[in-house]
Amino acid sequence: MLNIAHRGARSLAPENTLAAAQKGLETGADMWELDVALTADSVPILLHDDTLERTSNARQIFPDRRPWRVHEFSLADLRQLDFGSWFVEQDPFGQIAADQVSTEDLARYQGEPAPTLLEALEFSRHHHWPVNVDLKDVSGTPGAASIVEQVVALIEALDMVEQVIISSFNHTYLQRVKALNTGLTTGALVYTPVADPARLLSRLKAQAFHPHHALVTPKLVRYLRVQGFGVNVYTVNKESTMKRLIEAGVSGIFTDFPQVLHSLWEAGDS
Ligand code: G3P
Ligand code: MG
Repeated sequence: MLNIAHRGARSLAPENTLAAAQKGLETGADMWELDVALTADSVPILLHDDTLERTSNARQIFPDRRPWRVHEFSLADLRQLDFGSWFVEQDPFGQIAADQVSTEDLARYQGEPAPTLLEALEFSRHHHWPVNVDLKDVSGTPGAASIVEQVVALIEALDMVEQVIISSFNHTYLQRVKALNTGLTTGALVYTPVADPARLLSRLKAQAFHPHHALVTPKLVRYLRVQGFGVNVYTVNKESTMKRLIEAGVSGIFTDFPQVLHSLWEAGDS
């Protein structure tokens, strides 16, 4: 069962940064998940939202560029931003208040950059640590035409095909991935019920179903797993839900608290 550190260990460090990836690695997670978008100059970069407001100081640095759409900022623009201080100020998961983040780490997070996908993949490769690349749906932006091709080319150039799972809520992207390289593992993200997930996965040539945890029943897990599909469930932060899913036999769990899942899994193993 894979413990997948969602956006790195984002309860302990600012999401989608190398600092969060480092924390995820330290917690003993089996792999990490990151979100990819494209900059205005078409560089794949780690960002979850369509805009920069929540996870950076874009509002202060570029006050005239509201609503701070990611695809309107070049890599050079993004390099001027601080993607870490908001975490220190807001403590989004209460882990600073709970004394789970050291003073040294908090100081280090100030000014943390959003890494490019190249930097994130190099980190993963260096640590022999697999990664799930979640392709954000950039439909309607200039990047939509090339995001899949760029990401696949980068993974191939780094010789990391075996170390990566590509997932997306945009299932057309997954078909494009397979058309480019059948050797790449793909996972279909869904947040609403699907009539027949096995049929969907077969049509997409995908290896795994990536459902929201509220959609998962033991029967569904069995149905997919006996057919050889993976079932990797997001985003599970409650221990009771982790236990329910482990008992159901899922192949992986995305969590913001890989440290919690790690302890739970270890305790179950012994
Ligand atoms: O891949 C699981 C999860 O990351 C999907 O949702 O919105 O957090 O990218 P989101
Ligand atoms: Mg994601």
